[in-house]
Amino acid sequence: MKIRVQAKGGAFEFDSAPGEPLLYAGLRNGLSLPYECGTGTCGTCRARVHHGDVDLLWPDAPGLSYVRREKNETLMCQAAARDGCTLRVPAVVGDEIGTVPPPRHRTGEVTLRQTLTDDVVAFQVAIDTPMTFDAGQFVVLETDALAGRRAYSMVNFGAAADRLDFVVKRKPGGGFSRWLFDTDVVGETLRVFGPLGRATFDPREDKNLLCIAGGSGIAGMMSITARADQEGYFKDHRGHVYFGVRTGEEVFYLDELAALKTRFPDTFEVTVALSDAEPAQDLRDAYPQIEFATGFVHAVASAHMAGRYDDLIAYVAGPPPMVDGALRMLILEARLPGSDIRYDKFG
Ligand code: FES
Repeated sequence: MKIRVQAKGGAFEFDSAPGEPLLYAGLRNGLSLPYECGTGTCGTCRARVHHGDVDLLWPDAPGLSYVRREKNETLMCQAAARDGCTLRVPAVVGDEIGTVPPPRHRTGEVTLRQTLTDDVVAFQVAIDTPMTFDAGQFVVLETDALAGRRAYSMVNFGAAADRLDFVVKRKPGGGFSRWLFDTDVVGETLRVFGPLGRATFDPREDKNLLCIAGGSGIAGMMSITARADQEGYFKDHRGHVYFGVRTGEEVFYLDELAALKTRFPDTFEVTVALSDAEPAQDLRDAYPQIEFATGFVHAVASAHMAGRYDDLIAYVAGPPPMVDGALRMLILEARLPGSDIRYDKFG
């Protein structure tokens, strides 16, 4: 069915499949519609339904608190058209000029699940059609076993990749994380939509990197630092990684981060911030390449980075309160322009 969009950049038209979120239909047709989470929490994909009717896919989506229902507004990531419709989008829209092909629907199969800590698992999904995606991007996953969709950043990156790597932290009350932790998911089928996300890394930007991550938000940072490493980026750029967890038992990927520090001792630094504990001496002894601190990760980053924000792009990912704290710090203290701050905030 035909969907028309009226936006600040002009008028556009694309096809949507029955039951398909309008956002996904527009993005896969190459339109740069506004979005952040893709899963109904942030409210960024707000649009007014001018003609036609839409069905809400998740009537309790938290992002609906940002829409004015009396004005017939909806969230494009949570609405599917019943028939052709016209949307008014309060944003500049145009043809997406990305470095990778537009997102599309794929099918995947879980091929590996590995426990990293009591509360963290890594898993791998083999996809039926190769995907080219930038470091820092994410996909939306869906399984018949559960209602709704979840967004996860890839740990890997690639051209025509046939597998996606993820890391997930157990979330109290989180259906998808419980499914991953408590069932034998290897062999399960997933629907995959992506790649999504504009918090990406391009080595041609030629700036120093600051990565601030909380919990499984480190996934996208692993992808970015791996991509930078592949380019030899840290031979002549600084890299600062701040990784926040609650206690020393919750931390992971230390071997990979320590190895990077060993290869680039003068330009790369990693700090692990524990919000609820003092770092144990055996952790310090096991990873002398890594600095350990106590405190919230954005506060630790703020104390360490003071006066060192020159020529820098900052990436932030993690739970919403942590991301908000880091963004405040980067805007008010570091005074970075918005174009040099990239973040993912998955609710
Ligand atoms: Fe739709 Fe976030 S992109 S609510």
